[in-house]
Amino acid sequence: MTDPRDHAISVLKENDRGTYTVPTKGLYPFQWNWDSCFTAIGQAHFDEDRAWTEMETLFAHQWDDGMVPHIIFHVHDDGYFPGPDVWQTGRAVRTSGITQPAVAGFALKRLFAMSKDKAMAARRARALLEPIHRWHQWFYTCRDPGAEGLVAIIHPWEAGRDNSIDWDEPFARVPTDGIDPYVRRDTQHADPAHRPTKEQYDRYLWLVQHFRALGWDNNKLHDASPFQVVDPGFNAILIRGCADLSELAGELGAHQIAAANRDWAQKGVGALEALWSEKHGQYLCLDRTTGTLIDSASIGGIMAVIANIPAYRAAAITRTIASEAERTRYVVPSHSLDDPRFDAKRYWRGPVWLVVNYLIAVGLKAAGEDAMAEKIVRSSLELIEKSGFAEYYDPLDGEPLGGRTFTWTAAVVLEFLA
Ligand code: DGY
Repeated sequence: MTDPRDHAISVLKENDRGTYTVPTKGLYPFQWNWDSCFTAIGQAHFDEDRAWTEMETLFAHQWDDGMVPHIIFHVHDDGYFPGPDVWQTGRAVRTSGITQPAVAGFALKRLFAMSKDKAMAARRARALLEPIHRWHQWFYTCRDPGAEGLVAIIHPWEAGRDNSIDWDEPFARVPTDGIDPYVRRDTQHADPAHRPTKEQYDRYLWLVQHFRALGWDNNKLHDASPFQVVDPGFNAILIRGCADLSELAGELGAHQIAAANRDWAQKGVGALEALWSEKHGQYLCLDRTTGTLIDSASIGGIMAVIANIPAYRAAAITRTIASEAERTRYVVPSHSLDDPRFDAKRYWRGPVWLVVNYLIAVGLKAAGEDAMAEKIVRSSLELIEKSGFAEYYDPLDGEPLGGRTFTWTAAVVLEFLA
């Protein structure tokens, strides 16, 4: 194998479409929201200007209400389903109608910290403060109507962890009647055994059609959704995004943005406590429609260490990862091996994702859990040496799974090697 750094850069360049980067060609031929933010961090290692452009392109497609869509369909490509004709969001440049984890605040601060050209970085960061702030405000207005300090996702694709075991129970309540006939494309690019099932796709599409019928009006969607889940990982990313945006805004003199985001972050960290499970040694998802915690120990409750959670919680999470590590060759599996539903090869039901490893390692390091953070980085680098820059990996034998030459995997490897 060539030098991993050179290899990672070549993956990022191969997937670069000029002003945005595709996650991987074939399977994901457009711009994805959180992928792009990680991509920018990777690009900042070798092309600062290009990294800022990646973020700017994403926010150029922010909705008027503040939402930043999860996919931007810059080009026509029949190789992906569901495309813009299914979403029908009525945008000039076509987009999906749901959002994704709010990595932008974290990415912005990281880009600014890494920048060599500070004058350019300050100018471009300043221009992004307000749009990112508006996105955060949108979350707390439209996805936390009860002002609890935690937001709900209304579609599994919003969490990015599409087929997590976390959703099995709440998803069972989503109907499948009346969905338009469709043909999946993902299973033509990746092994169907490593992807979500048809039953899950039916429910993904039912929700899309339901929201579409409501005109994508974010004043209505949260309450109208039969699927409302408070995911600790999703919230932790948003909380960290608020905290980082607050710090950077303060440094750049945008004091109102700094204050509002500091308040959201503080409230969010406090509210996360209600999701802690002593039994599992990690956070769990809350089903907002029933008000109960979901008994499912997934990576969502581990990656919560990216929020500035109390050190004793980070220590407990470290012990939980250590116990999983006794049974897997590679860490961190996306679901606990204690759960009979664990599946080493099926997308978010067991495989290791390097982008999640990155968030966990950053969070653990900040909490002083250096040894586990380093173990996670080592395991990640072993995976790319053995199996290349895959979308995800089998935690038991390291087999590469899903798409190949994957952008965000390459992006975080540049961080691991820095
Ligand atoms: C997909 O199509 O697999 C995506 O995860 C949806 O964003």
